[in-house]
Amino acid sequence: MTDRYAVIGNPVAQSQSPQIHAAFARATGQDMSYTALLAPLDGFAETLRQFKAGGGKGANVTVPFKQQAYRLSTRTTERARLAEAVNTLKFDGPEILGDNTDGAGLIRDLTRNLGCAVACRQVLLMGAGGAAQGVLGPLLAEAPGALVIANRTADKARALAARFAPLGPVSACAYAELAGSQFDLVINATSAGLAGEVPPLPPGLFAAGALAYDMIYGDRETAFLGYARQAGASRFADGLGMLVEQAAEAFWLWRGITPDTAPLLAALHRC
Ligand code: ATR
Repeated sequence: MTDRYAVIGNPVAQSQSPQIHAAFARATGQDMSYTALLAPLDGFAETLRQFKAGGGKGANVTVPFKQQAYRLSTRTTERARLAEAVNTLKFDGPEILGDNTDGAGLIRDLTRNLGCAVACRQVLLMGAGGAAQGVLGPLLAEAPGALVIANRTADKARALAARFAPLGPVSACAYAELAGSQFDLVINATSAGLAGEVPPLPPGLFAAGALAYDMIYGDRETAFLGYARQAGASRFADGLGMLVEQAAEAFWLWRGITPDTAPLLAALHRC
């Protein structure tokens, strides 16, 4: 029987996950379906319950339900607990296993697809919301030389840095305080780009050969990558590779097979 999976969000129609998982399933010969499920803003738990009761095997969870999915999980992985958010659920009888593959997806995209090591590098992470929190643990696990969190609301960045300090060399500041610093890797985890905006970065932030990475993606160059191009970054990547890699990690959790992401990334004109 065909195993059923879904991505649950609101909005969800724009999600590329159904196409990505369909490509993985074809390539690995897995008998599974994967659809997009729109949950009412106040109805995530009920949508999830119905999908599970109807025979669903697992689900991805996207905005704005990742924190709720974390709370509804009966068991969580360590990386989900660090992120305090879940983007991948696996149903096993009455049990709901909650995992978070976002950070692993980012690291795999950086280190494998883009050849950008994080170890010993100076890393700037912009943003202190759910997206930033989801990748902090995996970034620190790569042992960067320093990781600075900058955020419009600096206190939120400071609170995050304090929480993650036991895991590595992390500090926090407001954007203006970055003046005079240089970074090898600058990651945009803010939602500013959704409104075509860029955080107010001081000039001269990009070290020689620096990679600018935007966790969002779209049909056109993102606002942050456009900014980075004229501000002296050397390399540029949007979040499409992270999306594909977090999906591959979820696919492994569900099916026990790691799909080859290279053909899909090439088809999406990423590599
Ligand atoms: P997400 O789950 O996408 O991280 P979020 O938790 O609402 O969403 O967090 C959004 C992040 O983008 C926050 O860090 C926010 O900064 P504040 O904490 O100061 O609100 C940041 N952000 C949103 N719009 C921004 C803008 N125009 N300039 C700079 N930062 C912005």
